[in-house]
Amino acid sequence: MFEFDSVPDRKNTGSLKWDRYAGRDVIPLWVADMDFPSAPEIVDALRARVEHKIFGYTIPYDEVVQEVLQYLQRRHTIAARPEWLVWMPGLVPALNLICRAFGEPGDAVMTCVPVYPPFLSAPIFQDRKRITVPLLLQNERWGFDWDAMEQAVTKNTRLFILCHPHNPVGRVWRREELEQLLDFCERHDLILISDEIHCDLILDDVPWTPTLALGERAARRVITLHAPSKTYNLPGLACAYAVIPDAGLRTTFRRATRGIITEINAFGYAGCAAAYRYGEPWRQEALAYLRGNCDLVYSFVKERMPAIKLHPMEATYLAWLDVRGLNLDRPHNFFEEAGVGLSNGEDFGAPGFLRLNFGCPRSRLLTGLERMAEALDT
Ligand SMILES: Cc1ncc(COP(=O)(O)O)c(C=O)c1O
Repeated sequence: MFEFDSVPDRKNTGSLKWDRYAGRDVIPLWVADMDFPSAPEIVDALRARVEHKIFGYTIPYDEVVQEVLQYLQRRHTIAARPEWLVWMPGLVPALNLICRAFGEPGDAVMTCVPVYPPFLSAPIFQDRKRITVPLLLQNERWGFDWDAMEQAVTKNTRLFILCHPHNPVGRVWRREELEQLLDFCERHDLILISDEIHCDLILDDVPWTPTLALGERAARRVITLHAPSKTYNLPGLACAYAVIPDAGLRTTFRRATRGIITEINAFGYAGCAAAYRYGEPWRQEALAYLRGNCDLVYSFVKERMPAIKLHPMEATYLAWLDVRGLNLDRPHNFFEEAGVGLSNGEDFGAPGFLRLNFGCPRSRLLTGLERMAEALDT
């Protein structure tokens, strides 16, 4: 019903994803942005906003707040209150402001690698120490290394940043894992930041447990970060929000945003409200399409590039390729020269890995995979 198979030309639209390779025959399969037109209802809502013709400062109006609260109730079983929401132009600024808000310069922030690169840069940009603990791969499944985390944590560690579902390994953390992580955070008095931007892109039939669904003890120390931007492909609308039930944490966070985060973009609110209100049919179809693309990546890699390892992923449209078996000096450059632009695992704290974004029309994905296989064959 929707246009997932159309092959849009995004050149000359200021696209971060496409302009990196302007003038070159490279298929961009890197940054997490999909080559799909938005849901028609979202486009209509934006058009209606344009027709209003007045683009003054915009505050979070009742309709958008209600849509977010209903979404949190429906999808996350969280009865959030309007004041828990702190609107942001993106999760990356939120991550940075959180690192700055809590503790003092020199205090530490912990996360597990590989991970989305801004988790690694935010502590450094904000004069914090960064503690990274590798995730463990056991029986084809990535998990936390609890012993290593206990050893690495220091008395000056203030925050743990969790990616749930995890970019790039694709895990949807189970309730028991989240409980254990919350125990760890309680034991060391850490605030737990749960980036749940990919939570509506679960491909496998696995349960979704939001970190805040762990009840009272989560409400005291968890800040959840959300946006409709990954699911509905709206990152250019720059609209995200933090959910912070605890008044003390909220005040500290808000203080750090003063004079830095002011009103966000009117189109961001309009897109967000429309996505949550009308976007479900589009999301369901996008998920079905992404499952098809995911299967294609698995089967293609298995048959044509068996030296690349791909572990089961439960969520996101990002495949995490272990290319160490290829014995390439610079795998990222190798595939770029073959006409495929992937994300470099080094940026995620994992040299020898590449991330492939399969959120694109299947024909384009297949061309990219063919180019990779041909480059390896020759
Ligand atoms: C885990 C994660 N968090 C945050 C973001 C980006 O957030 P924003 O565009 O709202 O800054 C991404 C984008 O890929 C992501 O994968």
